[in-house]
Parts: sequence; C-alpha cells; structure tokens
Amino acid sequence: MRHLLSAADLTRDEAVRVLDTAAQMAATQAREIKKLPTLRGRTVVNLFFEDSTRTRLSFETAAKRLSADVITFSAKGSSVSKGESLKDTALTLQAMGADAVVIRHAASGAPHTLASAGWTSGAVVNAGDGMHQHPTQALLDAYTLRRHLVGDGGRADATGRDLAGCRVVLVGDVLHSRVARSNVQLLHTLGAEVTLVAPPTLVPVGVGAWPARVGYHLDEVLADVQPDAVMMLRVQRERMSSAGGGFFPSPLEYSRRYGLDARRLAALPDHAVVLHPGPMNRGLEITADAADSPRAVIVEQVANGVAVRMAVLYLLLAGTTTGTTTGTTTGT
Ligand code: CP
Repeated sequence: MRHLLSAADLTRDEAVRVLDTAAQMAATQAREIKKLPTLRGRTVVNLFFEDSTRTRLSFETAAKRLSADVITFSAKGSSVSKGESLKDTALTLQAMGADAVVIRHAASGAPHTLASAGWTSGAVVNAGDGMHQHPTQALLDAYTLRRHLVGDGGRADATGRDLAGCRVVLVGDVLHSRVARSNVQLLHTLGAEVTLVAPPTLVPVGVGAWPARVGYHLDEVLADVQPDAVMMLRVQRERMSSAGGGFFPSPLEYSRRYGLDARRLAALPDHAVVLHPGPMNRGLEITADAADSPRAVIVEQVANGVAVRMAVLYLLLAGTTTGTTTGTTTGT
C-alpha cells in the first residue's frame, strides 16, 4: 500500500490489517497513552479544497498523536482563490516537505492525479473526492461495525468471520455519495451483504454492476433484510444544485419514504445499529430521536475515525524514509 486512494484498492488482508492496527491504536488511547513517537520527524500535510469537520480534524488529531508535524491547508483564504492550480499548490507544499498528503477535493480523481503526476513524493491519502471515494470513512465504518457486530473489542474474531454475512442497508442519496461507493466496495471485500435503498432518481447509472442489491421501498427492504446495521446517507443538496438537478422527491416526501424515524428504528432487530457519516440533515434523512437514540453509533464513528486514521498513517509511513515512501506497507 503506497497510497490510499480507493476502498477498491484494498485486499481483504490489507483492510483487515488496517482494522487490526486501528484496534491497537485505540487500545493505546484507552490506556491514556495519548501520544506515540512513531512518526516523529515526519510531516503530514492536510490539503482540504472542500469543507470538512470530522475528516480534517481527525486526520490532524491522528497525525499529532503519532508525533508527526502537521500542516493544514484550507483552500479558503489561500492562493487558490487567486486561481492557483492543484499542481502549483501541491508543488508548494512539497517544497516544505511532505511525507504524506491527505487530500479532499470536489473533483473526482484529484487524489489519483496528485499521486500519479509526481507533484508529491509523499503517500497520498484520499479524504474524499467528489462523488467518487472516501476510503477512510468506509474503514472507520467497518471498524465501528466490527466493534458492535463481531465483538472482541474491534479485533478480528478467532474464526476470521470479520463482517462475513453481516447484513448492512445503506439508505438515501446513493447517487452523490462517495461514502456509499466506498462502503459498498469495502463491505463486499469483508464479506458483508449490502443492500442499497434510494429513490429511483438518486440511484447511479450502472449500479447493477455494484456488489449490492438495490431496493426502492425502505419499509419493505427493512422487513425483508432484517439488517444488522442501517447506514443513513446525507442528502447532498449542494451537489444537486451544482449538477443542475432538482431535489426530487420533495424534502417532506423524502423524509416520509426514506427517513429513519422512531417507528422504523423500533422495527429493526434488537441488536441492529444505526450509522451516519455526518454531517446530518436532522429531520430529512434522520429524525432527531433516531439520531440521538442509543442504537445510533454516530458519535462513536467520529472517535473511531481517529484510531483508523492513525492506523492508515502508521501503515503508510512507519519504516519509510523521510520525504519518500517505499512501494510496500511496512511497520508492525
Ligand atoms: N464524514 C465526513 O466526511 O464528514 P466531514 O465532511 O465533516 O469531514
């Protein structure tokens, strides 16, 4: 693993290794060993061209807890507003020394371009690109599911079952969701059974090729699948308006047909958990009582994001030389 660009790039063994390492990182945090010396002398650059709260702060926290130096760049207030390109921004940050570049960008494929064009010698981590991928979100979601559904404190269980056979339903704006694309791929790699539920207008062309079933009626799917987990997706109104499309169905209709509320929550199996990547549109895809219920693990997802991102940075950087990374993941 030279870079982390897509959930599709991860083999099952690589994904399990990240999740196991995240469990070790979480264990050190639980013992109140807040700071590990592992990445002392390394520089992690957070390059955010699109807004973020959870991902940016958790990458920053993760890098600092590994003792890396952190440079955080937000496009707002930078020379990007004067028209500076991604290439020149990347070259500028490379000149300051970057062992890893964590990038979020509105353009699908921007992290791939950064990694392949030679604008940085560091490892590139995709922190969300357009509607394409958000691999660390999928990893933290899988880690959260593991903690609740597989047991053993988030480590792989003795049988190696690891989410195999777990039933996960993703609900909502699949069309615009990099979280959905990443999760479908990673959950499939880990052996889970995935079902997508969305209004027909928010299902991507080509979804038939995805390793997931597709339904259009939430109540019917929940009754049929009896899911272990329900993952609600944010309705991405900002991408709808930029694409020139309207929001169909209406917000009221959407919430009635696809929103998670107390009635639907009560109909889930007793052990089922509710996830949402955030930020939430409360009252649209999820009601406040569902979001704040004990079944919701949404705040825990955020905490798990720090451990997972510590694991990703560690696996990409530990054992490599400052300023360059080798072709394989190292470190134990
Ligand atoms: N889940 C997620 O990517 O949230 P942010 O946009 O706040 O980073």
